[in-house]
Amino acid sequence: MLEPAVIILRLAQYTGAMILFGSSLFALYALAPSGMAASASLRWLRPLLAWSAAGLLAASLLGLLAQTSVLAGSLSEGLKLSSLSAVVTTMGFGRSALVRAVGAGLALFLLLPRRLDRTSLRVCAMLGAVTCASFAWMGHGAATEGPGGSLHLGADILHSLAAGVWIGALVGFLFLLKRRSSDDAALDHVRHRALHGFSGIGSVLVATLVASGLVNSWFLIGPTRIPGLWTTPYGQLLSLKLLLFAGMLVLAAANRFHLTPTLRVALDTAAAREPALGALRRSLVIESALAIAVLGLVAGFGMLAPVSAQ
Ligand code: HEM
Repeated sequence: MLEPAVIILRLAQYTGAMILFGSSLFALYALAPSGMAASASLRWLRPLLAWSAAGLLAASLLGLLAQTSVLAGSLSEGLKLSSLSAVVTTMGFGRSALVRAVGAGLALFLLLPRRLDRTSLRVCAMLGAVTCASFAWMGHGAATEGPGGSLHLGADILHSLAAGVWIGALVGFLFLLKRRSSDDAALDHVRHRALHGFSGIGSVLVATLVASGLVNSWFLIGPTRIPGLWTTPYGQLLSLKLLLFAGMLVLAAANRFHLTPTLRVALDTAAAREPALGALRRSLVIESALAIAVLGLVAGFGMLAPVSAQ
């Protein structure tokens, strides 16, 4: 019973941290300062960030309890202060869980009383980045000893940050393109400018994810253990993740090279506007569902012994 709870709470932590980091960053680079403050259509941003921070805070603390209970052999043993303090003081994942809880708590403390502006967004993005980086100590990123250790750690941190930028932007686009009772031309141009502006960032993200993912794979699969990709549970889940990633790439390319240019043209003719927006919404919903499935797989196989350790 505890293991599935640990996996679900890892997924909740990945999702909360990546939205907190990636969606606050999205608002900073994709939404112009003037448009952001004035536009009622961005009312979703502050509740989204506050709920992500609250979810991350709860999931980090519950995740710490659940994983300590797995190690201690039972929930009652795991709830003991001696077990918890041992995990927090001696184990990387224990400390990293506290870093996430403190980061999320500070973001919540900042977001609740305050009107959202670029300063609070920058602070949220920084706190979010710290919580994303801390995942390296929750998975295998910090487990490599010796000369390759810092390379693996650095690559894994970069990997989580790139994943956060992508997933945070996807959630931002879903809200930005959400159907509204009173759609206006100004909002349509904010939407198109954000989509168009993301295309450059998108290529850098894909390159970063593939390069850092290959470094991760070098240490956790190993150049001589490739068959482990289909003969071991860890390898099979990673392979399934790469398949879903390929699906996300196809959708992202379709958004960039077909759906976004089509929207550009459609904005001038009212008749074509809604079908163009609808096609983008559908594509973004599928891409986001694949992204959550990727995080779900990582939440699972990040707990298994990697191929290189078998
Ligand atoms: C949208 C694409 C991707 C997302 C959202 C994503 C997300 C993640 C996340 C959140 C982690 C966990 C970091 C940790 O806990 O330490 C991770 C680990 C990993 N990723 Fe990715 N990733 C993506 C693409 C890739 C690609 C393209 C590769 C391979 C080329 C890859 C290979 C790996 C490996 C080997 C790990 C280590 C898992 C472990 O700690 O055992 N990922 N990924």
